[in-house]
Amino acid sequence: MEQTIKFKLNGKTVDVSVAPHWTLLRLLREKCGLTGTKEGCGIGECGACTVLLDGAPVHSCLLLVPKVEGREVQTIEGLGSRESLHPLQQSFIDHGAVQCGFCTPGILMSSKALLENKPHPTREEVKEAISGHLCRCTGYHQIIEAIEATHQESKAHLSNSVIPVKTGIQNSKEKDWIPDQVRNDKYCRVIYRIVDMLQV
Ligand code: FES
Ligand code: FES
Repeated sequence: MEQTIKFKLNGKTVDVSVAPHWTLLRLLREKCGLTGTKEGCGIGECGACTVLLDGAPVHSCLLLVPKVEGREVQTIEGLGSRESLHPLQQSFIDHGAVQCGFCTPGILMSSKALLENKPHPTREEVKEAISGHLCRCTGYHQIIEAIEATHQESKAHLSNSVIPVKTGIQNSKEKDWIPDQVRNDKYCRVIYRIVDMLQV
């Protein structure tokens, strides 16, 4: 039997009738038409389904819809628009931090939560914030640099001075930070060996 759930979605109050065993991910994609939030593993391992619940990143594939009653959910569709990108989205484009893009919405939502709670995070804090996200394409350097550049630009904005924007791809010297899940993946190990051999 369906039940009515009322919550705030990307700034607007919504009422939806849904079976209580549905996950928030399924509700967003199948009832709300918000397909920007992706389903990867479906078991809380990859981070692709990350949205913000009252400002904190959560795995929407693990959250049953009754848990969002009266709360505030933000998805990638609420972050920026095609006409007006969020600074993080622009920075990801500028730094080549998007390839297939499957992991990107989730990483952007975690990055937004990080920068809102900690406007000037250290590199370690950036790594920690995205540690629950798997990306099979970028190798993570560009993603980290894009997040760092976003907070540097906001710092420049606050101090009214100009800080040159980093071009992340050229600065990608560190190849050592790879999450264990990826490091231990046979397929990824082969790719990283080839990259190292080519010295790119
Ligand atoms: S789809 Fe939710 S963590 Fe992978
Ligand atoms: S850009 Fe393809 S998985 Fe991250």
